[in-house]
Amino acid sequence: MSTTEARVAVVTGAARGIGAATAVRLAAEGRAVAVLDLDEAACKDTVEKITAAGGTALAIGCDVSDEAQVEAAVERVVRELGAPTILVNNAGVLRDNLLFKMSVDDWDTVMGVHLRGAFLTSRACQKHMVDAHFGRIVNLSSSSALGNRGQVNYSAAKAGMQGFTKTLAKELGKFGVTANAVAPGFIATEMTKATADRVGMGFEDFKAAAATQIPVARVGEPEDIANAVAFFTGEAAGFVSGQVLYVAGGPLD
Ligand SMILES: NC(=O)c1ccc[n+]([C@@H]2O[C@H](COP(=O)([O-])OP(=O)(O)OC[C@H]3O[C@@H](n4cnc5c(N)ncnc54)[C@H](O)[C@@H]3O)[C@@H](O)[C@H]2O)c1
Repeated sequence: MSTTEARVAVVTGAARGIGAATAVRLAAEGRAVAVLDLDEAACKDTVEKITAAGGTALAIGCDVSDEAQVEAAVERVVRELGAPTILVNNAGVLRDNLLFKMSVDDWDTVMGVHLRGAFLTSRACQKHMVDAHFGRIVNLSSSSALGNRGQVNYSAAKAGMQGFTKTLAKELGKFGVTANAVAPGFIATEMTKATADRVGMGFEDFKAAAATQIPVARVGEPEDIANAVAFFTGEAAGFVSGQVLYVAGGPLD
């Protein structure tokens, strides 16, 4: 599949999981993709997958919660790939705990990666989108935005991503920039595997138990989310903005 425009996309947290699948998917559509993650070396697999398929990708080590690193990363994208007009704010971490056991560090880390990170990358990329009079920002929210035991930090951050998205849509719409959020349900990645480990369950049993609660009777795969992101970043999606799409195998309560 190819799109009409070979645009430059930045995908954060793209060394693995949903970010990696999204980077691969956008590259297959003809986007040159900056693969950002904490450790540049860890981005190698994603970049190799893209280049092996004939695409263009660049690995960049960047902590999205660090202002100077984000500014430097976006400058490097501009120099080596071109001005980014697609941004997927996907980098994420969990620091789950019940409120009475949650440390300030657990709270700050989750806010820092999801909200501060999305703010810093969006601010750094928006100038290039405005100049091009085209932009697509997709933020990863979560079904946890609706509330989830043990995740006051994460659910607050993921609900925050929705307000952030809607405000970006209102501020940037007149410059040809859309902003939307994808809110995944249970997706099989290292993140959900870590949760299985934490509660002392094997990952296969954990996934099977989750699937019993999902109308389509399976858990999601990273490609399920990449498909939704691809829609929002598409050339034809210019009238779709400020939306939150739950991709969870069914409706949520
Ligand atoms: N897996 C799920 O079920 C699920 C459900 C809802 C939402 N999400 C969200 O989707 C996104 C991707 O999740 P995933 O399951 O692929 O997780 P994952 O843990 O497999 O991957 C997350 C990636 O983000 C990177 N990252 C973490 N902190 C970073 C930072 N400060 N700077 C740059 N990169 C950083 C990690 O190194 C990792 O490569 C996250 O925002 C997550 O909250 C996941």
